[in-house]
Amino acid sequence: MSAAFNQSQSSYWQQIVQNAQKGHNQAQKIPFFSLAPMEAVTDTIFRRVVEKAASPDVYYTEFTNASSMVHPKAKFSVQGRLAYMPDEQIPVAQIWGSRPDDIAGAVKLLPEMGYQAVDLNMGCPDGTVIKNGGGSDLIRHQDLACDIISAAKSTPLPVSVKTRLGFNSPLEFREWLPLILKQDVAVLTVHLRSRKEMSKVPAHYEYIDEILAMRDELAPKTLIQFNGDIKDRQEGLAIAKAHPGIDGIMIGRGIFENPFAFEKVQQSHTLRESIELLKCQLTLFDEVNATVTPKHFEALKRFFKIYLRGFPHASGLRQALMETHATDEVRTILDEAVPQIETRDLDKIMA
Ligand SMILES: Cc1cc2nc3c(=O)[nH]c(=O)nc-3n(C[C@H](O)[C@H](O)[C@H](O)COP(=O)(O)O)c2cc1C
Repeated sequence: MSAAFNQSQSSYWQQIVQNAQKGHNQAQKIPFFSLAPMEAVTDTIFRRVVEKAASPDVYYTEFTNASSMVHPKAKFSVQGRLAYMPDEQIPVAQIWGSRPDDIAGAVKLLPEMGYQAVDLNMGCPDGTVIKNGGGSDLIRHQDLACDIISAAKSTPLPVSVKTRLGFNSPLEFREWLPLILKQDVAVLTVHLRSRKEMSKVPAHYEYIDEILAMRDELAPKTLIQFNGDIKDRQEGLAIAKAHPGIDGIMIGRGIFENPFAFEKVQQSHTLRESIELLKCQLTLFDEVNATVTPKHFEALKRFFKIYLRGFPHASGLRQALMETHATDEVRTILDEAVPQIETRDLDKIMA
């Protein structure tokens, strides 16, 4: 790998690192924060809601199948996943696959779409993805994983990898992560669990320092981002402080518990603020549904509880929203219910 290519590979990410550090004393390294890629969650709609609440430094798309991207008939089915709007920060495109040719074909399309970075999914535990040789199955097929990284490098975009510690056992990381680090990727994101552990055991923070030492020895230019059970920015900062050398912190399900998970100064938020976010999501849903790609209203329902969480007396409202069939119905219920709830002074319950 030539030095020039290496340099261009990491400039996008160096900018992210610098932005995260801005306004802080250089003596204290501030990690960049990212919203984890989440299938059926982190589309252009939800990313913009999170931006309104409190922005991370980096966003990712939902994972997108590389073979579908290059298949003449399937390519339309994945267009919505890669859609982003002019008023949002361009996310990192996350793709998955098991055919190097398709990966090479898919990454070629990304710069034309305006993408500036690509992430390869090598951690997905889903049975269908594994059956297709993708996601965490690549942990068991390491030559293929290397071929896929090489194929992705046929684009000038920086290439990153998101993976787990191992397939069957977390200790596989001692063999698996050095292999990836030797491929000279811009960023390695480690979800601190094995595929077999799914999300059922606590993330293995006990291996963080060993992984950082591997990076320092094998690939000092590769940025390391950790992921797993980190609830919000404050928790992420504490982990980074305890393990110097961490470059990035990725938060996934924490956003379901607190849409303001990325805020720099933790504050209490009112029910009104939270409902404003839900209304924003409804507006963006209608916009994307009308102009970009058809969206299923039912899929919106998983988000309702994010915004009404922490307001115990709002359970009736949550239930009413679950019975709805259209965004206007949701708006009507919210407009009727919120003044009543506020009069009952539930506005300050959310801490
Ligand atoms: C609903 C959902 C969808 C997910 N989809 C993806 C995905 O498309 N790509 C990916 O790399 N990981 C995906 N993940 C895994 C997350 O990115 C993350 O690694 C995992 O949730 C652990 O982080 P957390 O404990 O902060 O949630 C998904 C997780 C959830 C809960």
